[in-house]
Amino acid sequence: MGFVTTKDMFANALNENYAVGAFNVNNMEIIQGIVEAAQQENAPLILQVSAGARKYAKPAYLLKLVEAAILDTGLDIALHLDHGEDFDICKRCVDDGFTSVMIDGSKHPFQENIRMTREVVEYAHDKGVVVEAELGKLAGIEDAVNVSARDATFTVPEEAAEFVEKTGVDSLAVAIGTSHGAYKFKGEPRLDFDRLKAIHALIPDTPLVLHGASTVLPEFVAKCNQYGGDIPGAQGVPEEMIREASKHGVCKVNIDTDLRLAMTAEIRKYMVEHPADFDPRKYLAPARDAIRGMVAHKISNVLNASNKR
Ligand code: G3H
Ligand code: 13P
Ligand code: ZN
Repeated sequence: MGFVTTKDMFANALNENYAVGAFNVNNMEIIQGIVEAAQQENAPLILQVSAGARKYAKPAYLLKLVEAAILDTGLDIALHLDHGEDFDICKRCVDDGFTSVMIDGSKHPFQENIRMTREVVEYAHDKGVVVEAELGKLAGIEDAVNVSARDATFTVPEEAAEFVEKTGVDSLAVAIGTSHGAYKFKGEPRLDFDRLKAIHALIPDTPLVLHGASTVLPEFVAKCNQYGGDIPGAQGVPEEMIREASKHGVCKVNIDTDLRLAMTAEIRKYMVEHPADFDPRKYLAPARDAIRGMVAHKISNVLNASNKR
């Protein structure tokens, strides 16, 4: 048990057409809910930390909480930096003991993205840490209605192949129509699977990553709204599409919004039903349980990663 890289996880996932869940963590209850689910499902696990999470919880707390989770459960866990914006933050996380970092140069021109990524790859690989990069921009498909607009935002397969070759990156996040947050599609959900297949055909050995992959479970949205929330029209990536993506090279599925919704729904419900209570453990415990249930469902029914540890 201990901190592990994603190397073996992705090799197995790529081979067997399933995906590893990468869950964003911000506090103890979120971490506990996720690791309990991974333990229950005997599944490989990536916990990821954003710059926002580092700012909110402080790096040392998150690191020690994940360490505690390993001690408590005996799990192997990959600790990953999510959306590192420059070399500096990637270096800090490598030095802190993360086993994986993302350098997100997707907003920069192609050559600059290559340069930034290669710099991080050189530093990280030297310390045994793996690197994820991103090519293409995460915009919903409604923002890319025709082929030339899609080529401007979505990942171009030939560029993906050139990018991987020139950077030596370990995994690549691709843009095929997903987006971050709870409002992913205005009309029918649609992902560009032809593009995903073309990318996978050109770089079959490179694990692909799907950001913005929350399914935005209707039960949690409904519960939030029932108990005083205001999140109308939220819509995520249908579960079937995540299953399909994992058959075409997607080995890592990023989930944050679903954790936020599960936690918020339970806290809202508890607060409304128990207005006189003010012990945080009373509302954080059901929130943690909801995270465990949601993550277990995802691992077993969406990612197909149960018993893959
Ligand atoms: O991709 C973004 C993740 O959902 C993290 O969000 O930057 O608000 O922590 P955050
Ligand atoms: P969601 O907003 O769909 O959960 O995506 C999270 C993510 O991509 C983190 O990097
Ligand atoms: Zn993301």
